[in-house]
Formats: sequence, C-alpha cells, structure tokens
Amino acid sequence: MLKQNHLYEVKTPPSVSHEKAFSILIASRSAEALTQLKSALSLMPAGVKINCRLISNGHSDPLHGLEKLPDLLIFRVGDCWQAELESLCARPPETRVPMLVVSTEAQSSAMRLSMKAGARDFFPEPLEDGELLRVVDQLYRENRDQLSSLNTHLTVVMNAKGGSGASLIATNLAHQLASAGKRKVVLVDLDLQFGSLSHYLDLKPQRGIKQALDNVEDLDGLALEGYLTRHVSGLKILSSESDRLLLSDEVSSDQLMQLFRLLAKEHQHLVVDLPRQIDLVTSTVLEQADQIVLTLQQGITYLRDAARLIEVMRRDLDIPDHRILVVVNRYDKASPITLAEVSKALKHQPIVTVPNDYKHVSEALNNGMPLLDIARRAPISRALHGLSEEVTGGRSPARPGLLGKLFHLVKGD
Ligand SMILES: Nc1ncnc2c1ncn2[C@@H]1O[C@H](COP(=O)(O)OP(=O)(O)O)[C@@H](O)[C@H]1O
Ligand SMILES: [Mg+2]
Repeated sequence: MLKQNHLYEVKTPPSVSHEKAFSILIASRSAEALTQLKSALSLMPAGVKINCRLISNGHSDPLHGLEKLPDLLIFRVGDCWQAELESLCARPPETRVPMLVVSTEAQSSAMRLSMKAGARDFFPEPLEDGELLRVVDQLYRENRDQLSSLNTHLTVVMNAKGGSGASLIATNLAHQLASAGKRKVVLVDLDLQFGSLSHYLDLKPQRGIKQALDNVEDLDGLALEGYLTRHVSGLKILSSESDRLLLSDEVSSDQLMQLFRLLAKEHQHLVVDLPRQIDLVTSTVLEQADQIVLTLQQGITYLRDAARLIEVMRRDLDIPDHRILVVVNRYDKASPITLAEVSKALKHQPIVTVPNDYKHVSEALNNGMPLLDIARRAPISRALHGLSEEVTGGRSPARPGLLGKLFHLVKGD
C-alpha cells in the first residue's frame, strides 16, 4: 500500500555493500506510474536505494521538505506537468539534483520546461523496454566513478603472513619514492593496533588517523597537514596515535575513502601498510589500489597463506593479476622453495625478490632510519629502488567495482 506524500523504501542496500548508497527518488501523482517505474529499475545494482514519493494535493515540488536530497530524481509528470515542473524551476540551483523526467505529454513545451528545470533527459510515455534502466545505470556509474576515483597513485603493501617484511618494505618503498623519486608521498599505516611505521622512521605522531577520520567532514588539504607527521626526507606519515589502540569497527570505509581523497588532492602517491585481514575497510582499499605488493618468504606456511589470499583477491574482490606484485622477501637462492615453485603455487608471475640483509636492516631499525640513508648501495636498497620503479610504471585504466560486477552478473553478461 502506498502512503500519500510519504517516503517508503523499495530496496534496502545489503549489509555487504561498502560503497555509499546511490539514492534515487521516484516521484509522481500516480501510484500506478510509481509502481511501473520502480519495476523498470528492479535490475539496478543492490547498493542503489530507491524511494518512491506519491504526491497528493498541496505541494507540486517532489523535493519539498526532504531532509536529505536524493542523488537522482525521476519525476513523472502528468496532466499538471506545467505546475509540477515550474515548482522545480523555482528552486535555487544549489538545491536541485540530477533529474530525469518521464511525461505523459510528448509536447515540445513540456520538454523545454523540463530542460529549464534541469532535467538530464526526457522520456515520453510509453517507455521503451530497458530505456530508463540504461540511462539511470549510466548516471549511477558516473556518480560512483566520480566518488571513487582517487586521482593519485595508490600502492598497498600487505603480508601473506606476519613477519614477512611488509612494514619494512612499505616504509622504505615510500621513502624511496619521496626522496629519490622526488614525489609528494604519504605513507599510511592502517595497522591500527600494532602499527610500526613511526618506529621505522623514529617519528612520534601527536595526532593521527582516528582524529583525522573523526573530523574528515570539516577538513581541507591544509587542515589535514596537521594530522601528518613529517620525516626530514619530505615523506609524510599518517598513522595511529601512539597511545591509542583502535578497533577495526571504529573505522568506516566511507570515511577512510574520504580521507584518501583529501590526501590525493595534495599528494602524488599514497603507500598503505595494510594489515592482513579482509574486511570492509581493507577490501575497499584493495579494490582502489593500483598495485598490491604482497610480501612473503620462502616457506610452506607463507606459500599456503599467500595462495589463499591471492585467491580471495581474484575471486571475491575481482582484482586482476596484473595489479598484484608478489615480493619474495629475504630471498635465498639456495632455498628448496624456488621462485618457479612460488610462481606455480600462486599461479602468478613475475615474482620480485628482496635480499636478506640482517646487518643493514637491524641498523636501520635501531636508528629509526630508512635503508637508503644507512646503505644506499646495498643490494637491499637497490632491490627496493627497483620496486619503486615497478610501482610507478603506469596506472591501470578505470576498473569496474564490486557493484558494477554484480550488475553484470544480474544482467547475465
Ligand atoms: N630483507 C630483510 N632482511 C633482514 N631482515 C628483514 C628483512 N625484511 C624484514 N626483516 C625483519 O623482519 C622483521 C619483520 O618485518 P616487518 O616489516 O615488521 O614484517 P610484517 O610487517 O610483514 O609483519 C623485522 O624485524 C625486520 O627487521
Ligand atoms: Mg607490519
């Protein structure tokens, strides 16, 4: 039963969706038209939230009194099209939203008034099969791409098993990009409980990720600087405050992406040290990454865990292989587990190696200094330089996200 002038939800976004829901409002004076339009959009991806509004006497403005404006308005106008469309023309431009008009009238005057009211498209009834769905999906994808594109280079470093060397590699990779590569780089420590990056560089963050996330709505690029800790090389770090242990449900993936977008405005490269777990936060970051540097060592348990992780990335997160960069750290060419075997077990190639260097790594850690400053010419520094060139070697083109994938599945292509 439709309630007059009430919003009612047609589709609830599923709890698995970690993208901000795209909200559509369908408004009309005809309950029958609402039902038809809603069913015309039944194949939209699950993260799209559709509300209907039945307009009765009184206001013709379909957006009147709404606390939150939708991302898209589908306005179906009938006999009173003139009054209905004029009510929208009367709105100040900043309170209008992208709109599609569906009309019982095909007259050019109705079309002109729709355009004046800001309509992106005009559909005279009867609608052709799939016509509205195609245009709505296009607008939805434009909106999603705008929201999700980071416009910076994002490299994620993750270990296949604790102790593989992910934090050492993330820190020194970011340092090389900032110092030798002269780029504006932020190293983000997303290990919110036992983050170690500030120790690797002997820094003591006063303000950190949690405070930045709490205030993200009000931050601009300049204010965000106050949450970053600066290393002498120019590299900046965003990490947990040293006295704070964060639980993963204290961080929302939406807020984190908002923070990343802010960082992206002022920096060319973000390097993220990501803890080895798959949840909404980590999968959002993984889906956005240009490269995922997966670190492991030559051991059966490392191999088994790495194979599992790669499989989850491929199968569940739809991450193509060319975005995964496998690094065998502390590489020993005498080990019975050869690179060919690693490649075979992970069904992945090529594999990059970083040598074992206990002496320089210990010295770097004890002094809180990057490897480049301790041993510029050592094979480990050269290997990390090679890795830095590898990750700056080119951006991958736009990728469909999880919802896009679901949509294709629903459509069956
Ligand atoms: N290539 C290497 N040579 C020598 N020691 C290393 C190397 N890579 C990492 N280590 C050491 O291994 C330990 C674990 O490294 P870390 O970067 O903290 O791993 P993860 O972040 O994967 O848990 C550190 O104490 C580090 O000093
Ligand atoms: Mg670590």
